[in-house]
Order: sequence, then C-alpha cells, then structure tokens
Amino acid sequence: MTELIHWSGPPRRPWRARRILPPLAVALLTAGMTLAFAGTANAGTTLGTAAAEKGRYFGAAVGTYKFSDSTYMSIVNREFNSLVAENEMKWDATEPQRGVFNYSAGDRIVSHARANGMSVRGHTLLWHAQQPGWAQNLSGSDLRNAAINHVTQVATHFRGQIHSWDVVNEAFADGGSGARRDSNLQRTGNDWIEAAFRAARAADPGAKLCYNDYNTDGINPKSTAIYNMVRDFKARGVPIDCVGFQSHLGTTLSSDYQANLQRFADLGVDVQITELDVTQGANQANIYAAVTRACLAVSRCTGITVWGVRDCDSWRGGDNALLFDCAGNRKAAYTAVLDTLNGGATPTGNRLRNDASGRCLDVNGASTANGTQMIIWDCHTAANQQFTQNGRALQVMGKCLDAPPSAAAGTRVQIWDCSGAANQQWVVNGNGTISNAQTGLCLDINGASTANGSAVIVWSCHGGANQRWTRA
Ligand code: XIL
Repeated sequence: MTELIHWSGPPRRPWRARRILPPLAVALLTAGMTLAFAGTANAGTTLGTAAAEKGRYFGAAVGTYKFSDSTYMSIVNREFNSLVAENEMKWDATEPQRGVFNYSAGDRIVSHARANGMSVRGHTLLWHAQQPGWAQNLSGSDLRNAAINHVTQVATHFRGQIHSWDVVNEAFADGGSGARRDSNLQRTGNDWIEAAFRAARAADPGAKLCYNDYNTDGINPKSTAIYNMVRDFKARGVPIDCVGFQSHLGTTLSSDYQANLQRFADLGVDVQITELDVTQGANQANIYAAVTRACLAVSRCTGITVWGVRDCDSWRGGDNALLFDCAGNRKAAYTAVLDTLNGGATPTGNRLRNDASGRCLDVNGASTANGTQMIIWDCHTAANQQFTQNGRALQVMGKCLDAPPSAAAGTRVQIWDCSGAANQQWVVNGNGTISNAQTGLCLDINGASTANGSAVIVWSCHGGANQRWTRA
C-alpha cells in the first residue's frame, strides 16, 4: 500500500488580511490555496508553508517567557505551524506539588498555537529529569501511582489539543548496552513505560503517542533497543503511534540516519524529528538539509521541530545551533532547510485516509446516485476513493462531496451533483481536519468507530483522530 503522508499546515495567515477579512473567510482563502492535490506544487516561502506543501509540519520549541519579545514572536508566527513547550509541560512545571497542577504556561502556548492555526506537540509526560522535588523523593508503588496519575491528569487537561505527546522521554541508556536508563521511574518496574502509554491513550485517545529519545540518530545499540521495544509494543497491542528522534546533532550526521527512521516507520509508527539543533560549523547547513531530506524521503516522517528559534534562545549556549542568528536573521542553515523542503516531489495520493481508523473515505457501494452516503473502508485503488480538488470542491466519480444544506452535527455526508455551493466546499485545516465551508463542522467518523462501513458525518471540530485525514 502507498505510504501515508500527514497532511497538515495551512500557511500562516497574513496579518493584514486578518484585519480586513473575518477569520473564516481568511481561513477559507488560505486553506483553499494550499489544498494541493496532484500536480499543483507551490514553493513555500516559510518553513511551515513549505513543509505543509510536503504534507508535514515544521515546528519550534518555545518558551512563554519570550512571548513579550517582538522579534522572537514575529519569527515564531511567520515561520512555524507547530509549537512545543520547551519546559512548560514538564512534570516540575505542571505538578509542582503532589496533586496540585499548574497549567497556566502550557495553556498559554496551546492557545497561541490554536489562535494561529498551529498544531501542538506535548513534551513530556514522564522523564527522569525535571521532576518536581516531591517526585524525586518517591519510589516503588508510591512513585508509580504518582507517575501514572500525572500522565492521566495532564493528558486529560490537554485532551484534544495535542497533536503528538512525548509520553516517555529518554528511558534508554547511552552506550552499547541497549539497557534501560537507571532512574527512579525504571526502578518501579520495567513495565512503567507501557503503563504510561496505556494511561495516556485512555486520557486522550486523539493524540498520537510517541516515545522520544536522543543519540538515536543512526542504527546503534540504543536505537536498536528502542526499536525492539516498539516492535514488542506493536505485537502486544500497547498503544504507541510514533517515535521522536531528538536529533541534537554535532558536526557530523550518521550515514544511516534515513535508514534508521525508515526501519522504525516499517514497524507501523510515525517518526518525527523532535528537537533538532546542529552545532555551527562548516557542515551546519548541510546537516540541516540532510535531516530535512531524510524526513521527506520517509513517508511516515510527519514533521520536524527545531529546539528553539534564534541561536541565543538555544539551550546549547555557544553552539549557535539554530536557524536564526541572535538578531533574528535567517542563517544559511535556514535557506538550506527551506530549499530542501521546496525541492523534490509533492505528495500525489488522492485518497483521504483517516488517522484513527487507517481506513479511507469511500463512496458506499461505488454508487454514483445523488445522495449516496460516505463511509470508511479499507484503502484501495478504485475510483470511489479517488478525490480531486476543484477550487474547494472535492470531486469523486464525477460528483462532489456534499453535506446536506445547513446540515446539523450528526448528519451524514454524501455525494451530489456539483453545484459550487458552500455546502460542497471544504477547508483543510492545519491539524488535518476538513471542515465544511457552510457550517464549519468537520468530517467525522460517527462514534469514532474504526470498522469498515462506519458512517462519515459532520460534527463540531475537536481535532481528534476520527476527524483527521491524511493524503494517501
Ligand atoms: C531542555 C530545555 O531546552 C532547557 O531550557 C531546560 O533547562 C532543560 O531541558 N532533551 C529534551 C528536552 O527532551 O526537554 C531538553 O530541553 C533538551 C534535551
């Protein structure tokens, strides 16, 4: 089967347009321009728009303490279509005292992202570092219970707002052992990681759940140990959807970087570059380009996040490891990434594959009668799953995808003769949802069912996986 490419990220809305047009109208215009089906490649002028043209997101780690810095914010708002909290969603920030939660800074990042059409990565639910003092002092079942409660509470708070969660961060040891890293969490029992993933799934079924680590940039004992864990999780039904490769890089890049991403993708998980930064030096731009090229070459590599905005914002001090200099100017590394994103092929798949079910939007029974309803079904190559864009209309078998005029939430979606009316116009949103231009309701699989034949309806947009669609 064709590999899947996450379809995300409308361009940033031009602020001038936002002041003149109502937000919905601007969203329609911008999204309409970027719903690039086969053969309509456009060069992006920012990292986010260029990545979106390739069906991917391009994000940055941000800190709320810099939100008052106008140079910083203008780069953030211009360039990126995904954000992650550099520190604000970590355990010490979100649960400073046992059972006392503080989400204010994390919420600020989420609301900024939402207001600007960006998706959000969640980082991180459990990690050996940046634990609050009270957790550092726990052990055994007391710590296990506190940790799982933490996962449940935080994932529940942010439910529906997080594209991908780093459920567990850095649980494997460096070096050649392939062992777990020793930590208070590890000492609660080897099953702590799967317990965390199960709790996260229960709390936010719509978020993709990732394992995230560093020094995993090639095929080595540490990445292989993680690979074996993911394979085991998939075999036993432990819920895992993605693996994050931090990619804090020096002056060289493993020659098997792409092959390593691909072997994880072949296990049936998405891969993401989650904390990219590269030591400044003769090779910096080349390494940034090579990482970008590798992600584009692996169809399940759904996005790239850089760990900061300007060199002087970086946790890596004097390494000057980022894409913008301290004054906010684009560096050679920036141009290398942008040019790489703009090169190569645009995704050509014309099916719409649902993120939750893995099944494709399908005209029931391949009937061409007006009023034939849409379902999901195993993806195949027949005409009743092939959509082409015409303006904002989505055509299939000579008809148009149609929500009955002024359809209320819960109404089934159908095909009808193309009319050009608003009830047949669809907007692709940055988080992968597809909303109807007339009502603003989103294409949704009824009851989040994943079975063949499940009804496709319109429902208020919440961004859960049963509302997200990927070109395939
Ligand atoms: C770093 C932040 O950038 C710093 O501001 C903080 O002081 C320490 O943590 N791997 C991770 C990130 O997963 O959470 C770390 O972020 C960098 C290494």
